[in-house]
Amino acid sequence: SAAASPGPGGLPFDPIAPVDATIDAVVVPNGYRWQPLIRWGDPLFADAPIFDIGAQSAAAQARQFGYNNDYLDILVDPSGLTGVLVANHEYVNPAIMFPPSDDPAELRRRGEIFQAAQGLSVVEVVRDSVGAPWRTVVGGARNRRITVTTPFAVEGPARGSSLLRTAADPGGRVVLGTLGNCAGGTTPWGTILSGEENFNGYFVASASSPERARYGFSESPTSTGWETWDSRFDARAAGSENEPNRFGWIVEIDPQDPTSTPVKHTAMGRFKHEGANVRVDDDGRVVAYMGDDERGDYLYKFVSRFRMDRGVGQAARRNNRRLLTEGDLFVARFSGDSPAAEIDGSGRLPSDGAFDGVGEWIPLTRGRASAVPGMTLDEVLVHTRLAADAVGATKMDRCEDVEPHPTTGRVYIACTNNTQRGTAVPVDEANPRLANRDGHVIELEEEQGAGGRTFRWSILLLCGDPAGAALTYFAGFPADRVSPISCPDNVAFDSEGNLWISTDGAPSTIRRNDGLFKVPLEGAERGRVQQFLSVPRDAEVCGPVIRNAEGMVLVAVQHPGEDGAWDAPTSLFPDYGVPGPGQAPAAPRPSVMQVWRG
Ligand code: FEO
Ligand code: CA
Ligand code: CA
Ligand code: CA
Repeated sequence: SAAASPGPGGLPFDPIAPVDATIDAVVVPNGYRWQPLIRWGDPLFADAPIFDIGAQSAAAQARQFGYNNDYLDILVDPSGLTGVLVANHEYVNPAIMFPPSDDPAELRRRGEIFQAAQGLSVVEVVRDSVGAPWRTVVGGARNRRITVTTPFAVEGPARGSSLLRTAADPGGRVVLGTLGNCAGGTTPWGTILSGEENFNGYFVASASSPERARYGFSESPTSTGWETWDSRFDARAAGSENEPNRFGWIVEIDPQDPTSTPVKHTAMGRFKHEGANVRVDDDGRVVAYMGDDERGDYLYKFVSRFRMDRGVGQAARRNNRRLLTEGDLFVARFSGDSPAAEIDGSGRLPSDGAFDGVGEWIPLTRGRASAVPGMTLDEVLVHTRLAADAVGATKMDRCEDVEPHPTTGRVYIACTNNTQRGTAVPVDEANPRLANRDGHVIELEEEQGAGGRTFRWSILLLCGDPAGAALTYFAGFPADRVSPISCPDNVAFDSEGNLWISTDGAPSTIRRNDGLFKVPLEGAERGRVQQFLSVPRDAEVCGPVIRNAEGMVLVAVQHPGEDGAWDAPTSLFPDYGVPGPGQAPAAPRPSVMQVWRG
């Protein structure tokens, strides 16, 4: 069959030159081609209209691919020629989607479009042969849109908690929608986990309580304006006081069953979840690693009570649905092994030659009980940041993606940056640079299995442009032979065990467009950062999917042209002025992009 025939094989490439941040272009290595696979507004269903921003409606948007794609994966079917693509839609950019308006009716109409443009998309894909580009299947049997109005079941210990009850849901068991879906992970049992990250920005809420202040709520108007016509997003309104507590969770969806009810997992804690990635421990329990992407916030892991069922039938699917509903939540404390005086904030290596040390996982919950004095289990799970504050966790430089290596089990933690390091929080050996502009990547090795309580760690990369002012470190690899890299965000692995890193923020630090980078982890090449691609102006690279055996890479290109205006776009990605019928000529469109050898 075509599926059995090999693809081109491998992803050999010469690193591309870094691209200046004023350039609106995609750059891929010599010998590769790129193409959008699906763009904002492309139809998922036969009844969806072709994208036309002038005639856009909420009903149309709910049947089309959403905005600002972040997490991405393709779950390939056994044939190898079909599969299902899942993408998160983290947020919207109102100022480049529509012209300015102060008409309340128009703003409400747009607000409903925004609600339909967020959430997730599930869409079937097909290809002619392994390694050939994918195409989407309009009307595919598994196609689905999940939006800000889709019902989610609340699971885990805080299901039904008084902290989660609202006038519309007095039982505290069903939440409408998901918000700020950033990174995520595909589980070994075939579901998708997605992190609800910057959910606070969708609410108007008094910050007068310690909990609300700690999660960054304010009474300022939101960018989507939903609170002006939907009191659900005004937490000052009677009956909506707890609505903000119903976001900030890890959500799980089953992309094979469009009728399934997605789940919010309260056992995994509530914070600005970047994402969650799972490793199965030797005893069959599953461990999810999770970052809270805020300056000075924490690294967490969840260890399941139940063991994974490795069957493939309905019974296994049912059993594995329980995995993330019961277990223990931990937060990380890092201890350096070098004298504090040697951690001077410059990034200079201490005298033992490494930023490294040991660490422990501090329990926040134990079985169905709180492990934090003075807090109930519900309080620990709903106000997790306060629980972690209370136990002395290590304040990190914004943990973004946290992902275990598929074969070594080592965990790679992207600390994207922290301009407040050294002012709000002192430097420490795990976060050693003052005003950490370019971010770093930590390598963590569990000492007692994935579910254990102690670990060792070291800094793999101190990012930056080696030719710039900041001190950099690339696992000892010569700095004059690496690609400049800044603001690591998402991580992935190829089947040869190499780490891949995508970035978000390089335009404002090293003045280069964001990109995707390969980093070998073993042998003489360990630490050799090599840039594979560069994305258009103002965009970040998300959700890298590395299919090196097929000679293919897929990325989500998020917020192209974000710093432009609706009538003065800074990006025309991906169509560059040659739109299809009925498509707006001048709007940048966040898109999933595929890159293949050919
Ligand atoms: Fe949505 Fe932490 O990036
Ligand atoms: Ca050290
Ligand atoms: Ca991110
Ligand atoms: Ca980011």
